Amino acid sequence: MDDARRNGGVDRGERLKVELDGVPETLLWNLYNRAAEARRDGSRLLDDPRAVELVERIDYPFERFGGAPMAQWHALRVRCLDDEVRRFIAEHPGGMVVALGEGLETQFWRVDDGRVRWLTVDLPETVAVRGALLPDEPPRRRTLACSALDPRWMDEVTASGVPPQDVLVTAQGLLMYLPEQEVKGLIAACAERFPGGGFLFDTLSRSMVARNQAGAFDVPEGGYRAPRWQWGMDVKEYRKVAAASPRIAGVRSLRLPRGRGLYAIAPVSHLLPGVRSLRMSIISVRFRAADREAAAKGSTTSGG
Ligand SMILES: C[S@@+](CC[C@H](N)C(=O)[O-])C[C@H]1O[C@@H](n2cnc3c(N)ncnc32)[C@H](O)[C@@H]1O
Repeated sequence: MDDARRNGGVDRGERLKVELDGVPETLLWNLYNRAAEARRDGSRLLDDPRAVELVERIDYPFERFGGAPMAQWHALRVRCLDDEVRRFIAEHPGGMVVALGEGLETQFWRVDDGRVRWLTVDLPETVAVRGALLPDEPPRRRTLACSALDPRWMDEVTASGVPPQDVLVTAQGLLMYLPEQEVKGLIAACAERFPGGGFLFDTLSRSMVARNQAGAFDVPEGGYRAPRWQWGMDVKEYRKVAAASPRIAGVRSLRLPRGRGLYAIAPVSHLLPGVRSLRMSIISVRFRAADREAAAKGSTTSGG
C-alpha cells in the first residue's frame, strides 16, 4: 500500500482543500471544536488524536469559526454520546452503529472494541471528503452516500444480517437541521425497521434555536454564518419523543458529564432554571422488541 493510500488518499505533506457549504460545512466547525478540546493538556474532556490530525490535514480557513469558544460544551456532548455508544457496544457484541450525518466524526476510533460494525450515512458531498480522509475499512467500517431520510440505508443495514435489536442509530449534530415532522418520521421509521434497537441523538433547546434563527451565533465581520436550525426541544420535554411511534419502549434524557470551571455544573444543569432553557439534551430512545410487539398485536387481534 503506498503512502497516499495509507493516509486516506492524501499525502500527509499535502493538505486536502475542503469546500463545502450549507449544513455539510458545519461538520468542520464540529471537527474544529473537538480538535481544540483534544489539544488541551491535562484536563481535556476528549482524547481524539485523529480529530487533531484531520484539522492539520485539511486546507480550510478554520479561523472563520472565531476560535473555538464552545469547544468544552461541544466536548461534553461528545463524551455523553460516546459513553452511551460504549454501553451499547458492550451489551451488543458485534452489533452495528449507524451514524447518520457523521461528517468527519472520529467516534469509531474513540469507542471501537474491535468487533463493532459501523455504517456512516451522509450526503454525497460529505462522503467524498470523508472518503478521502477516512477511507472505509470493510467489512467492519463502511460508508453510504445517502440522505438519512432515504430508506436505502435501512435496507443496507437489514441486508447486512445484523439482528435489528443489535442496531443503534445515532444522529449527532443533525436533527436540528431538519423540520420536526421529518425528525419524528425518521425516528418512527427506525422503530419500525429495528425492533429492540435504539436511537441516540442530541437536540438543542427551543430558545437556542430561536437565537440561531435570529442570527445570534453568526460570527461578525464577514465570518461564518451558521445555517439556520429548524427544530429543538427543551430538556423537560424529552418524554414527548415517545409520541413519534407506538413502537418506542422507552426514552431517557442522559445526564451530561462534569466539565471544567463553569461547566462543572453540567451534570445538574437540567435542574437549574435559567441554565435549563439553554441546555442541549442527549436523548436515548429504545425501540420495542419484535416478540413483545407480535404479542401485543396478537392480544389486540384477539381482543378485537
Ligand atoms: C453539524 S454536522 C455534524 C457532523 C458530525 N455528526 C459531528 O457531530 O461532527 C451535520 C452533518 O449532517 C450531514 N447532513 C445534513 N443533512 C443530511 C441528511 N439529510 N442526511 C444525512 N446527512 C446529512 C452533513 O453533511 C454533516 O455531515
